[in-house]
Amino acid sequence: MKEQYDVIIIGAGAAGLMCAMTAGGRGRSVLLIDHAKKIGEKIRISGGGRCNFTNLHASPAHYLSHNPHFCKSALKQYTQHDFIALVEKHGIAYHEKTLGQLFCDESAQQIIDMLLDECDAAGVDVRKESSVESIMEHKGGGYAIKTPYGSPRCGSLVIATGGLSIPKIGATKFGYEVARQFGLNVLETRAGLVPLTFQAQMLEFCKGLTGVSVDANVRAGEAVFREGLLFTHRGLSGPSILQISSYWQETQDIAVDLHPGEDVFAYLKTQKEAHPKRDLKTVLSGILPDRLVEQMMEDIQVTGRMADLSHKSLQAVSDRINDWRIRPAGTEGYRTAEVTLGGVDTDELSSKTMETKKHPGLYFIGEVVDVTGWLGGYNFQWAWSSGYVAGLHA
Ligand code: FDA
Repeated sequence: MKEQYDVIIIGAGAAGLMCAMTAGGRGRSVLLIDHAKKIGEKIRISGGGRCNFTNLHASPAHYLSHNPHFCKSALKQYTQHDFIALVEKHGIAYHEKTLGQLFCDESAQQIIDMLLDECDAAGVDVRKESSVESIMEHKGGGYAIKTPYGSPRCGSLVIATGGLSIPKIGATKFGYEVARQFGLNVLETRAGLVPLTFQAQMLEFCKGLTGVSVDANVRAGEAVFREGLLFTHRGLSGPSILQISSYWQETQDIAVDLHPGEDVFAYLKTQKEAHPKRDLKTVLSGILPDRLVEQMMEDIQVTGRMADLSHKSLQAVSDRINDWRIRPAGTEGYRTAEVTLGGVDTDELSSKTMETKKHPGLYFIGEVVDVTGWLGGYNFQWAWSSGYVAGLHA
């Protein structure tokens, strides 16, 4: 570790690695420091081990923030196509899974190796298992960090320590504490892209259906997502639920359509006329998984032959399928969340460079900032874009 660097970056995750290779590529001397044993652990576990590294359709509309305009500049300066070009330059094979989501064909480790190779080529000094005990700002400009291996100084200090999700692989509140140390506003944080939990009767309902999945439309307020929904022994999960969790407010119901795209009441009336002797259960099994039908019918207590069922009963069944209103008790929290909502207030930062307005040379990038993407490669794209623009200016 040298005594002086142009740039010190704390946090060697997605954003920190991108920032380091960009700044190093400009000829800046860069120290990239992380307290974890392995570099880029979140990249490694992402996308089921294949890293959903970006999304073909990434745009500001796919991000949540108190200032929805903030992410525009960085996303424009470094787009998904720029990252795809980097992946292609390194000969990494990839594919589109669904909805523009790009995954490695082989392994997420390829993305980590690619970023480390770029850092190596740019002369970045990468230090793992190095904790930062404190940060000092010098009166004449610049910063110094205290580590067990020395107290190097720098002109530009970049905080890229991510959010609070998955503490067991190294997530800490360090970035928020640094922001507070420098008098910056930090917006309340909460877990996002996380399974929803339930109590009592609804929990029993979910437990009984563990492993069952359906295509569903899930709504909370104005937000609506149509993707898979999965019943688990703790509640509801699957992409549609993870997406809505970022929008769901406590004490709010979510509305679930278990058979999107079809008016189930109209369907049941047609079936009643065409097959009056058929059992309701048989009719519903045509559109929903058997286990779900059985448990749902037990729950709403409507059974029997179609001919014997009133329109009122059919409407009750159809409401339960097309407009199922449920009240989550909470979320599984940071233990399983993919991201952290909230964080360093974007009002404190320049959207063009990610530099703080109050402290020249101090930058915040990636998930520690109050910009959170949808599920589907959008969060990594934010890490690449914000890391890149800071790397251009730090
Ligand atoms: P990131 O968390 O990547 O890095 C922060 C780094 O800072 C870590 O290396 C950490 O060790 C280090 N650090 C923390 N505190 C420190 C301290 N005090 N001192 C030194 N170092 C410190 N997104 C996506 O787009 N596609 C996907 O497929 C997935 N999949 C996915 C799966 C799972 C299980 C999770 C939890 C998350 C995802 N994500 C995702 C989200 C994505 O991983 C996340 O948004 C980015 O990694 C954020 O990048 P950052 O660099 O900001 O933080």
